Amino acid sequence: MKKVLITGGAGFIAHHIIAHIIKNTDWEIVTIDRLDISGNLNRLNEILNQFSDKDKKRLKIVFHDLKAEINSQIESAIGIPDIILHLAAASHVDRSISFPMEFVQDNVVGTVNLLDFARRQKKLEKFVYFSTDEIFGNAPEGVSYSEYDRYNSTNPYSASKASAEEFCVAYENTYKLPIYITHTMNVFGERQHPEKFIPMTIQRVRDQQKVLIHANEEKTQAGSRHYIHAQDVADGLMFILNLNNYVHRGDFGNAKCPKFNLVGPEEIDNLTLAQIIAKVQKKELIYELIDNHTSRPGHDLRYSLSPKLLKSLGWEPKIKLSKRIEEVVEWSLKNKRWLS
Ligand SMILES: NC(=O)c1ccc[n+]([C@@H]2O[C@H](COP(=O)([O-])OP(=O)(O)OC[C@H]3O[C@@H](n4cnc5c(N)ncnc54)[C@H](O)[C@@H]3O)[C@@H](O)[C@H]2O)c1
Repeated sequence: MKKVLITGGAGFIAHHIIAHIIKNTDWEIVTIDRLDISGNLNRLNEILNQFSDKDKKRLKIVFHDLKAEINSQIESAIGIPDIILHLAAASHVDRSISFPMEFVQDNVVGTVNLLDFARRQKKLEKFVYFSTDEIFGNAPEGVSYSEYDRYNSTNPYSASKASAEEFCVAYENTYKLPIYITHTMNVFGERQHPEKFIPMTIQRVRDQQKVLIHANEEKTQAGSRHYIHAQDVADGLMFILNLNNYVHRGDFGNAKCPKFNLVGPEEIDNLTLAQIIAKVQKKELIYELIDNHTSRPGHDLRYSLSPKLLKSLGWEPKIKLSKRIEEVVEWSLKNKRWLS
C-alpha cells in the first residue's frame, strides 16, 4: 500500500484531492497544514463523513508550518512517503501585494524545507509541485502558454510560485529528485473560500447585491480564464501519477522534470460566468465592469494555458464547464455555511 504526503490538506484544492484518493485508491494519506486564514479543517470533516470508519482512518493530519524545517519529530509523524503532493502555499494574491515577504517565507522557504525532507527519502517515486498559470503572466488574445514557456510574474504571489518551481527543477538537477510540476488554471468547486470570485458571485446574486467584474481599462471587455473544477484537477493529477512510462522529450537541461498544464474545458469571461450563475438562480445579475489595473495592481486580464500536452496523452476534463458551474451553484445554495 502506498503512502502519500499531501501538504495543505485543509485547503480548498487539496481536500478535494484527498477525497478523490480515499475514493479511488487504498493509499494511506498524511497531510500537513498550519491552518491559516484559508485552511479549514471543516472541509476535511465534511468529506470524511462520506466514508466508512476504516477509510476515515487512512487520513492522518499533522500540524506543521513549512516555514520551519521538518524536524525528526514531524518526520516520524509523517512516516515514509512514496509520493509527495505539495499544495500548501499562501494563495491570496491581494495579500501578497501588501505582504510580499510572507509569500517568500511560505511559498519559497516552505517549498525548500519540503524538498530537503524529500531529499532524505529513500523510496520516493514522485514529488509533484502545484504551480499556477499566473507564473506566465497576462496572456494576450490568441496566446496560450505551453508547459516550458518563460515566466513573467506580475505580482509577488506568482513570483513566489515561479521561484519555488525553479527550486524544484534545481533539486531534480542537483539531487535527482523525481520532480513533476503542474500548472493549474483557476480552480473552483465546493467549499472554496467565500472571498473567491465564484462563491462571492453566487452569494451576491442570491442577495441581489452588485457584482464587480474586472475588465480592461475601457471597461468594455471582462477578464477571462479557463476555470477548472477541483474534482477535474484531482482526476488529472491521478492521470499524471499513473503515467509510469512517460518520457519527457523536451530540451530541459539534465532534469527531465515533466511539466503539465491542467486546463479547464473551455475559456469563459467573468461576465458570462456571472450571467450563468444568475440564470441558475433565476435572478437578475446586477453588475459593474471595473478597471482591474486601478483596483488591483498586478492583476492580469486574461490567463490562458495550452491543454495540448495532456490531451495528446489522453486526458481532458470530462464534464462541460456550464454543468460544473450549475452543480456548484446548487450545492452552495444548499450549503450556505460556505458562502459569506
Ligand atoms: N486556487 C487556484 O485557483 C489555484 C490555481 C493554480 C494553482 N494553485 C495552487 O494550488 C495550491 C492550493 O491552492 P488552494 O486554492 O487550495 O489554496 P488554499 O489557500 O485554499 O490552501 C492552502 C493551504 O496551505 C496551508 N498553508 C499555507 N502556508 C503553509 C505553511 N507555511 N505550512 C503549512 N501549511 C500552509 C493553508 O493553511 C491552507 O490550508 C497552492 O499551491 C496554489 O498556489 C491554486
